[in-house]
Amino acid sequence: MGCPDPHSCFDETQPRARHLELELDVDFGRRIIEGRVVLVLSGSSSGVLDLDTKGLEIRSVGVEDGAEVPFTLADEAPILGRRLRLDLPPGTTRVVVEYETSPAATGLQWLEPGQTAGGTHPFLFSQLQPIHARTVVPVQDSPRARVTYSAEVTVPEPLVAVMSAAAAGHQPGARSGTRTFLFEMPQAIPPYLLALAAGELESRDLSARSRVWAEPATALAAAYEFADIEDMIRTAEGLFGPYEWDRYDMIVLPPSFPYGGMENPRLTFLTPTLLAGDRSLVDVVAHELAHSWTGNLVTNADMEHFWLNEGATVWAERRIVEALHGEEAAVLGWAVGEKALESEFERFGREAPETRLRGELRGTDPDDVFSSVPYEKGSRFLALLERTVGRPRFDGFVRRYIERFRFTSITTEEFVAFLDAELPGIAGQVDARGWLYDPGMPENAPVFRSARLESLTALGEGFAAGKRPSGDDVAGWSPAETLVYLQHVPRPLEASACRWLDEHLELTGRGNYEILVEWLTIAAASDYDPAFPRLREVLSRIGRMKYLRPLYKALGAHPRTRDLAREVYASASPGYHELSRRASEAVLSQYPSS
Ligand code: BES
Ligand code: ZN
Repeated sequence: MGCPDPHSCFDETQPRARHLELELDVDFGRRIIEGRVVLVLSGSSSGVLDLDTKGLEIRSVGVEDGAEVPFTLADEAPILGRRLRLDLPPGTTRVVVEYETSPAATGLQWLEPGQTAGGTHPFLFSQLQPIHARTVVPVQDSPRARVTYSAEVTVPEPLVAVMSAAAAGHQPGARSGTRTFLFEMPQAIPPYLLALAAGELESRDLSARSRVWAEPATALAAAYEFADIEDMIRTAEGLFGPYEWDRYDMIVLPPSFPYGGMENPRLTFLTPTLLAGDRSLVDVVAHELAHSWTGNLVTNADMEHFWLNEGATVWAERRIVEALHGEEAAVLGWAVGEKALESEFERFGREAPETRLRGELRGTDPDDVFSSVPYEKGSRFLALLERTVGRPRFDGFVRRYIERFRFTSITTEEFVAFLDAELPGIAGQVDARGWLYDPGMPENAPVFRSARLESLTALGEGFAAGKRPSGDDVAGWSPAETLVYLQHVPRPLEASACRWLDEHLELTGRGNYEILVEWLTIAAASDYDPAFPRLREVLSRIGRMKYLRPLYKALGAHPRTRDLAREVYASASPGYHELSRRASEAVLSQYPSS
């Protein structure tokens, strides 16, 4: 009763925590955080309050005058963790929970100095989407239960702590050799947007409202790569309305970060694989920035409506790219997305429930069904609406959507109701029902074409028939064009063909990881051993799941490459994030035994 989120015990009929006062003491030696949180309730409350926890050791629960509050920790439920049930005395406005995280907390990754760029200090980062906030703080861990927060984070000197919040300075910590960093987050966010990183960090200002944080060794490269951020923010504001989060800072994390980016408000988290040296991978930043409207202002109510976050954000990302770099660049983005979508249909099967936009996820771990479907099918649905009503009308619709639902968390059904009210008849005209509730890809999916795209595709697909790009062709290609070409080259290839590609496109030495990994995937599938050292290096250093999955998959094709994969995995996996380990193992477990 009253528990709408299949991944949380958040109960709408119970008292609501509206604000969190966090005290987090980061202990790198024990790989735990000692935490104290004051849950500030929406009014004077009493009775049962259920919180989500996972792996937390609860030391005490009380009201602030010291009186204990009775609590019970339910048995561990698979995926969800343990429900912490508090029995609040009448008149409760603030509850204090003292606790400790587990070294195995899935929301945190603890890095040895050797896993950082600097090599001398440890590093900690959080990744709490979709349902890992409960491994760091006892909370109503559902996007429906938005909170504001303040935090005091204590870390050993000379480390710096940053959060998805406004920084409010630092002071000496209670223990000598520590510093306490203060934060204030005045805007209500879903708990999955709580975020923390700590390490040897410095920052470079990029504009009056943006700076990039990174380890000293990468700070300069990061500042170069993202120098144009202010233009991007202004472009996004022109499309979607004012940027509401005050600052837009970024942090470049160590290479084990399992995603490309994470839209933590005021502080986007980024993989260092974006540092290509030529600003060619900033579409990921456009994506995370776009979440400032789609995702962080208007949030999916729970993971069954994840397409509302990601589909809308991919659509918005491509509009930003188009505004900044032209229609041709956006078409290439759609083409790369198309490839990703096709490979998901192959992985799941076209009729599989994983290919529906509106999910049914009770009993399913959202991390296990993460895929490009909500991103690429969701964004195509919105692009179809855009084409159907025309851009000016659709842009108006998007602005009113953001205005209407800002700082709330909504379902697919609420989206459809708004669509019906604002653009009457359109849902029926495009068969929105089929798009949202049926598996596979509808017949009326929009197609994205350009002469340039056609010629790159034809050139790649013609590789087996002997077609080759000229030196002039190749020299004129942008990184995105090179990627699209490579994605269409058939595989496996003969060693001589691999050598030709590597020599003419200079692939093994690339700093653009999209291109590099596409090439290494071809090389792995082709058992092309001159690429093995580079392959080994990438798999050993990079934890981004988007790259680990296709590389390990391609290595499954031959006995020799399977051995290589198992050996590299055994030595590299202790440095991977838990999620990256799980993703890689899922691929390795599909290998034939040899
Ligand atoms: N919010 C996602 C990452 C995420 C999703 C983490 C679900 C955990 C659960 C982020 O915005 C994202 O989509 N990142 C992509 C970027 C890409 C689509 C440009 C990534 O990491 O590759
Ligand atoms: Zn996203």
